Amino acid sequence: MIIDAKLTKEIASIVGEDNCSTSVADLYTYGFDSSIHHHTPDMVVRPKATSEVSRLVKLASREGIPIVPRGGGTGLCGSAVPIMGGMVMDLTRMNLIKEIRLNDLYCVVQAGVVYDRLNEALAPHKFFFPPSPGSGEACTIGGMVATNASGMRAVKYGATRDYVLGLEVVLADGSVIHVGTNTIKNSSGYQLERFFVGSEGTLGIITEVTLKVAPKPKKAAMVLAAFDRLEDAGSCVSNLISIPLIPSATELMDDICIRAVNKAVKAGLPEVQAVCMIEVDGDPEIVAKELKVVEDVARKSGASTVQISDDSKQMARWTNARKSVMSALSRLGDDLVSVSLADDMAVPISRIPEAVVAFHRIADENHVIVGTYGHAADGNLHTKMLLNPCSEDSWKRGERAVGQIFDAVIQLGGTVTGEHGVGMSKAPYMKKERPDAWGTMLLLKQAMDPKNILNPGKMMQWEGGIIRDLRYPCRDLISK
Ligand code: LAC
Ligand code: ZN
Repeated sequence: MIIDAKLTKEIASIVGEDNCSTSVADLYTYGFDSSIHHHTPDMVVRPKATSEVSRLVKLASREGIPIVPRGGGTGLCGSAVPIMGGMVMDLTRMNLIKEIRLNDLYCVVQAGVVYDRLNEALAPHKFFFPPSPGSGEACTIGGMVATNASGMRAVKYGATRDYVLGLEVVLADGSVIHVGTNTIKNSSGYQLERFFVGSEGTLGIITEVTLKVAPKPKKAAMVLAAFDRLEDAGSCVSNLISIPLIPSATELMDDICIRAVNKAVKAGLPEVQAVCMIEVDGDPEIVAKELKVVEDVARKSGASTVQISDDSKQMARWTNARKSVMSALSRLGDDLVSVSLADDMAVPISRIPEAVVAFHRIADENHVIVGTYGHAADGNLHTKMLLNPCSEDSWKRGERAVGQIFDAVIQLGGTVTGEHGVGMSKAPYMKKERPDAWGTMLLLKQAMDPKNILNPGKMMQWEGGIIRDLRYPCRDLISK
């Protein structure tokens, strides 16, 4: 036990007894995020202020205790799983929206503010923070910065990194620094605010974020296009972009995902090989014009049916069907769970048709069921594998398929993660994708965190395969 009674008392004196815990239930719970992994920490702390974070990090540095910062725990690749034990630092009590300065186009929030809460606060002012992650009702802004999260609207509005103007960060020695500015433009030296985007808690603990905000579009409308060939759905997306027409969202779902959501949430989607849900937004006249173009391109790309709606209820039904894919897949087969492996690759947009076809071929060759869906217009695709968590053979086939999917993605000029991050589940593949850069990343990590206490063992520090520290009750049966 690296945190003894004396240290526990010292930690309690910083955050209060109610905000640190070593109870079996808390430790077990905080060993998860939303990935396939689990590892039990030694303590959970829930600071309320940057000063408390700073004191906790000083203590951890003195004692050599790992610290894993965590927001909503919605990460899908193990970024918040305390793989080397130590302290999980839950930042959700730091949930103040400190400033909304619309005439300066920015707001300042603490790291633990939930995405949807921020947008609820911005909505009456006709502004929003656009990235729209699938987990928006639970994920935090700090976690979004730490993983460069995005979602349905990145094609038109960009990812989290495009909105980060400044950050407050607690470094590995407990000192507090401010990077970036409160201005829209800044050429004042290294762009360190970008340096922390995607750092997943390995370089410092993000406590406060200055975010650019965007005006909310006046109107949105959607097209649901059904295709009898998956590659036609992929081509529809790149045909649209090259018009040029940049939709506000383009969600592709293959037949496996369609069947899953129709079964689980009675989504009523056409049971074809693939659907594309294409959203356009802006001033009403522009929306009307763009809808016509989308319909035309969808038909010319081979859509068998095209439905159009600007009714908010209908659009919400389609969007919810899409958002239910992940949970719905888990209910497709009795012994199977849907796992986040090879879950968010991105390829250049024009390579989407090849990518989706390759994923299906790889799934068939390895005898695994793979649902493919995603934010196709920005080249970002999700696959979810259905595996039997108690079968070693199932995991082996899954891991082989993951390796082949990532090889295909790299070969198509893509990246192994477009929006979820690296954590554990993608660490070996990130090294493969970045053979000439991961060593530099490691050097920077070592310089920023010489005692290796900040989320140690992740990303560049990960060794070996990914089928380990599994979250499933039968994990001891799996030998790796
Ligand atoms: C989504 C998550 C998985 O798009 O990124 O639903
Ligand atoms: Zn996504």
